[in-house]
Amino acid sequence: MPSELDPEGKLPPLERSIVLVGLMGAGKTAIGKRLAERLGVSFIDADHEIERAADSTINEIFERYGEDEFRQGERRVIARLLSGPPKVLATGGGAFMAQETREAIRENGVSVWLKADLEVLFERVSRRSHRPLLKTGNPRDILRDLMDKRYPVYAEADLTVETFNGPIEATVDRVYAAVLDQLRISAMESNR
Ligand code: S3P
Repeated sequence: MPSELDPEGKLPPLERSIVLVGLMGAGKTAIGKRLAERLGVSFIDADHEIERAADSTINEIFERYGEDEFRQGERRVIARLLSGPPKVLATGGGAFMAQETREAIRENGVSVWLKADLEVLFERVSRRSHRPLLKTGNPRDILRDLMDKRYPVYAEADLTVETFNGPIEATVDRVYAAVLDQLRISAMESNR
């Protein structure tokens, strides 16, 4: 699709996966699906893959086996997905906290942190109840605590795009432009 950065509509072939990271409610799935369409690659949501592999919902996995088991499964599933063809991959909010996963992403992908403020996240997560971590106390306090712990680590992502309330396509435009820029820079560096 033509754009300011890609006026002739000729995208460089995607050689690395685009990996979306960020807290619950940042819009990784919604933005990821649309970004994949624009880039002409498949979209995979790591949480869905984990649910498929375990034949259980994330809630059930947390309840039956606990968070540690979930994290192990999450690391395995993401490593498998990253070893396949380039795609847009949305990861669960805790995935990027695992060093092993950050390294795998660094080797195989371009990471994009979808950064949102507390009010935006809170408003979005309040609409649904499928997130086990938010059931253990006051969701706003939990999100604030997770922001404190995770934002310094998310900041290691290759790209950061701020997301606000408003039309999702506007955010997708900004993510797409940032990704194209990054791909061009990488292509120039590897041709040097
Ligand atoms: C989690 C986020 C969830 C899911 C699980 C744990 C987290 O994914 O992986 O409930 O630790 O932040 P989303 O970020 O897609 O909601």
